[in-house]
This record gives sequence, structure tokens and C-alpha cells, in this order.
Amino acid sequence: MGERDPLTGAETTGHTWDDNIQEFNNPLPRWWLWSFYATVIFAIVYWTMYPSWPVASSYLKGLTTITYQTDAGEEVTSHWNTRALLQRDMQTGKSAVAQKTYLKVIEDSSYDDIAVDADKMAFVESYGNGVFGDYCAACHQSGAGGVVGEYPNLIDDDWLWGGSSTEIETTLKAGRVGFMPAFEETFNEEQLTQVASYVLSMSGEENDATLAKAGEEIFQGQVGGCHLCHTSAGTGLKSQGAANLTDKIWTIADVRGATTPEEKLSRVKSVIHNGVNRVMPSWSSRLSDTEIKVLTAYLLNKRATGDQ
Ligand code: HEC
Ligand code: HEC
Repeated sequence: MGERDPLTGAETTGHTWDDNIQEFNNPLPRWWLWSFYATVIFAIVYWTMYPSWPVASSYLKGLTTITYQTDAGEEVTSHWNTRALLQRDMQTGKSAVAQKTYLKVIEDSSYDDIAVDADKMAFVESYGNGVFGDYCAACHQSGAGGVVGEYPNLIDDDWLWGGSSTEIETTLKAGRVGFMPAFEETFNEEQLTQVASYVLSMSGEENDATLAKAGEEIFQGQVGGCHLCHTSAGTGLKSQGAANLTDKIWTIADVRGATTPEEKLSRVKSVIHNGVNRVMPSWSSRLSDTEIKVLTAYLLNKRATGDQ
């Protein structure tokens, strides 16, 4: 310290490297120094206002408070934290308020109104898509195309339980149980082949006419009693959720996925042999009536547009 560079007369640090390299000891620029002090002051103010340092098993909570409503509608004031901020945004944020307003609009509109109003439909599309993704897609798949044998396709215009707005609402609110008894005890192998051949004949699939004729008697008669649920015409019964067997749409037996007539026959046989027992859960405790309405309008629109 105190030494001076002989050429410029500037103060140096006093160290010499490699015989003759020295370092000037210039003061820090003023602007830099003041900025530095400012950041220190800012940090101290910040620590006192907001949650900052860990202390034992807790942390300094800061002096700033935030007021928000809990999910139960209770007003709560706590120290400022991002979770409370998110909670408040979800209640009073711009998009949350817009969403609430729109849900109210949907609540007050008829399904016909919604279908012809581009704004309402746009809301149904985007909100419905979110709810469907959260609650339904796990089973019915994100495009609502379902999985043959497991979860019905919701966009194919073929409804086990009916496709009117009221019927879909009922399905969503109360849930459904698709039940068909297993016939493994009732039929021997021959009868099983016969009745399955008849089922295939109903939708114009290749079949053995003699077998199908014998199968018809089982289907329409006492032994099988199939007509009780599927009707004599085979068109199904919505009150039972019994499939229409005359269309080429299969929700359980993956006939369309089979390549040979033998394979088709065996897939139908196996459904009759094993029966069906599958459950669509009830949603009335998890979704509001308006959310169910949005989902219903969403599905009606998907069907109308054939949109995947
Ligand atoms: C745990 C799986 C599962 C979830 C989650 C689920 N579903 Fe289902 N859903 C099913 C099953 C299984 C059926 C078929 C019931 C039957 O066989 O009758 C079904 C049937 C339906 C039907 C009746 C179809 C028809 O042809 O009549 C509709 C509509 C439907 N679901 C909509 C929804 C919506 C909307 C959601 C989301 C809120 C949803 N499902 C969530 C399994 C599920
Ligand atoms: C108690 C009512 C009931 C009776 C009786 C009944 N079924 Fe069903 N059947 C159903 C229901 C309900 C479904 C659809 C289940 C579902 O989708 O969850 C079904 C589905 C089917 C399917 C699958 C259709 C598809 O789209 O994949 C076939 C095939 C079938 N039944 C044939 C028969 C035959 C043959 C008999 C008589 C031996 C019979 N069923 C008797 C209720 C019944």
C-alpha cells in the first residue's frame, strides 16, 4: 500500500508479479458502489416484508399479509405466500372471474342455445376439454374414442344409455352399470356357436345360416332370453344399457378388430360366455351440475361434429 506507479503516479496495491507486473489500486466507481448499497438495503427490506430466512424448523414469515377465501368460502388472512396468491387468483383473478361468469351463462342457457351460440360453444369446448381431460380421458381416452371392450366410444353416435341431453346428464350424474349375465352355465358349446352366429347375422356379418337359424330360437326364446334386454329386433334397450346388435358398432366384442369370420365368431362367443359387468362412475359428488352440463354439451357437440 502507498506505493506509486513511477509512470502514471497512480497508487498501486504494492504487489509485484513476474518481476514487474503491478496492479493499480483505483477506487470503485461511485455508481457501482451506490448500486451495491441499494441492493443491500433492498434485500433487508425484502427480508422483513416477505418470507425469507429459515429459522429453526420454521422461517421468517415477513410483515406483508394476504387475504383470500378458502375452498369452503371462509375468509383468511395470512402472511404473504404464493399458495395463497394462487388461491386468490383462482377466485378473483381475471380469468377466474370470466370463467365464473361464463359458467353462470351456461347454467342459464338451454342446450339448443349453447349449440347455436359461437361464444358459448367456444367456452364449452375449452372448459369441457379441461374437465374431460381431468376426469374422463383416463378411461374414455383424450379424443373420447374409448377402448373397445373397456370404455365406450362417446363420439360414434351409438349410445348404450341414450344420447339426448337428459340421458347423458343422467349417465354422468348417477353413473351406469352395464350388466349382462354370463351364459357359460346356460349354453353348451354348440348352443353358444348358434346364438353367436345369429348375433353376427343381425348386422350382416358372414355367418352359417343353419347355425344362425337355431341361434334365433335361443335368442328369441326362453332358453336364452336375449330378447328381453336386446329386444326381438336386436336393437337394444336403453333402459338396460343393452347394446344394439344390428348396427356394425361393437362396444364389447371387438368384431371389427377381427380379420377372419372364425375370429369374429369366437369374439362374440366369448362375450356371451363371460357376460359383461362394467361400471361408469357417478360424478354428482365430484362435479357441479353446471360442469356436468358443460360436459354434456361438449359431448353433444363432439358427436355433432365427429371431432376427435
Ligand atoms: C373408471 C373409468 C371411467 C371414467 C373415469 C369415466 N367413465 Fe364414462 N363410462 C365408463 C364405462 C365402463 C362405461 C360403460 C358403462 C356400460 O357398459 O354401460 C361408461 C359410459 C359412459 C357414457 C355412456 C355411453 C353410452 O353409450 O351411453 C357416457 C356418456 C360417459 N361414460 C361419459 C363419461 C364422462 C363425461 C366422464 C368424465 C366425467 C366419464 N365418462 C368418466 C367408464 C368410465
Ligand atoms: C340382462 C340383460 C341382458 C341379457 C339377458 C342379455 N344381454 Fe347382451 N348385453 C347386455 C348389455 C347391458 C350389454 C352391453 C354391456 C355394456 O356395453 O356394458 C350387452 C352386450 C352384448 C353383446 C356385445 C355387443 C357389443 O356391442 O359388443 C353381445 C354380443 C350380446 N350382448 C349378446 C347377447 C346374447 C346373445 C344374449 C342372450 C344369450 C344376451 N346378450 C343377453 C344385456 C343383456
